[in-house]
Amino acid sequence: MLQPFQYQGSKRLIAPVIIQRLQLSRDSELVEPFAGSAAVSVRAAIDRLAGCYWINDKNKPLADLWRVILEEPNRLVQDYSELWHAQKSDPQGFYITIRNRFNEDHNSADLFYLLSRAVKGAVRYNSMGHFNQSSDNRRLGTQPHIVAKRISAISNALRGRTRITAIDYRAMPALYEKGQVWYMDPPYQGVSSTRDSRYACTVVRSEFECFLADLIDMRVPFVLSYDGQTGTKTYGPPLPSELGLHRMELYAGRSTAATLLGRTEHTTESLYISPHLLGRMSCTKDTTKQLLLSP
Ligand SMILES: C[S@@+](CC[C@H](N)C(=O)[O-])C[C@H]1O[C@@H](n2cnc3c(N)ncnc32)[C@H](O)[C@@H]1O
Repeated sequence: MLQPFQYQGSKRLIAPVIIQRLQLSRDSELVEPFAGSAAVSVRAAIDRLAGCYWINDKNKPLADLWRVILEEPNRLVQDYSELWHAQKSDPQGFYITIRNRFNEDHNSADLFYLLSRAVKGAVRYNSMGHFNQSSDNRRLGTQPHIVAKRISAISNALRGRTRITAIDYRAMPALYEKGQVWYMDPPYQGVSSTRDSRYACTVVRSEFECFLADLIDMRVPFVLSYDGQTGTKTYGPPLPSELGLHRMELYAGRSTAATLLGRTEHTTESLYISPHLLGRMSCTKDTTKQLLLSP
C-alpha cells in the first residue's frame, strides 16, 4: 500500500474497490478534484490502469508538494532526510520551528516533514489558514530510506502523465473532456457546512449538490465518496435520491480512533456512482453485489 505521505481521510485501504468501479482503460484520464494524498490515483498509476492523471487540490502548498514529488523527487528526499536527522536532539521543538517556517514560506519539503510527524497524519488549520497540528512525539516520522523508495515508485508511476492544479472544484466542470473519469472525495458533509479545521478549504453541501447535478447533466462518469458511519456515529444524511446516484456501502475497517480509546467500532463508507458510469457497468458482467465487503 504505497502512500506518499500520511494524510487524514486517505482512501488507501479501499482504493482497490473504488478503482474497480471507475471502469478505467488505458485511454482514460483519471481526475481527482479533491486529491489530498491521491490514494486512488497512486494505486491506479502503480497498476498502470489509466492513460493519464489529474491531481487537483485547492490547498496550494499541497498541490505544490505533489509537483515536487513528480518533478524533483531526489531533492525532496534529500531535504526530508536532512530535516529528519536534524530533529534528533529536540524532535518536539524542531517540529514547531519547521511549522512556523512553513507558515511563513510554504516550502514543500517542510510540509512533507510536518505531514510525516503530525498527530494521526491529520492536517489542521486555524482561522488564519495556518497549519497548527501538533507533532506525534512517540514517533520521529518515516525513516528517510523508506521514504526514498516510496517517493521514487510514486514519482515514476505518475511523472510525464499527470497534471497538477490547485483550483476550486467548482471551476472543474468547465474543464471536463470526454475520456475523463472522476473520483471525488470532498470533506464530508458532517463538518462541511462550517469552517472545517481538518482542511485548508472546504465545501458547502448545497453548492456541492448543484455541482453534482451539473456533472450528471454533462454525463460526466464519476464515483463519489461522501458520507459514512463509525459505530453509531453517522456523517450526515445521504445525498438526495433525485440526483439519481447509485449508493452503496463499503466496509472500511476498524476505526483506529475508537481502538485507541479501547472501543471496537467499524467504519462503513458510502460510495455514489453516477448514472452515466452505472450505465457502462450494466453493459459488463460486473455486479454491484461485489461492493458489499464484510468485516
Ligand atoms: C477527504 S480529503 C481527500 C483525501 C484523498 N482521497 C486521499 O486519498 O488522501 C479532501 C481534500 O479536499 C480538499 N479540498 C477542500 N475543499 C476543496 C475545494 N473547494 N476544492 C478543491 N479541493 C478542496 C482538501 O484540501 C483535502 O485535501
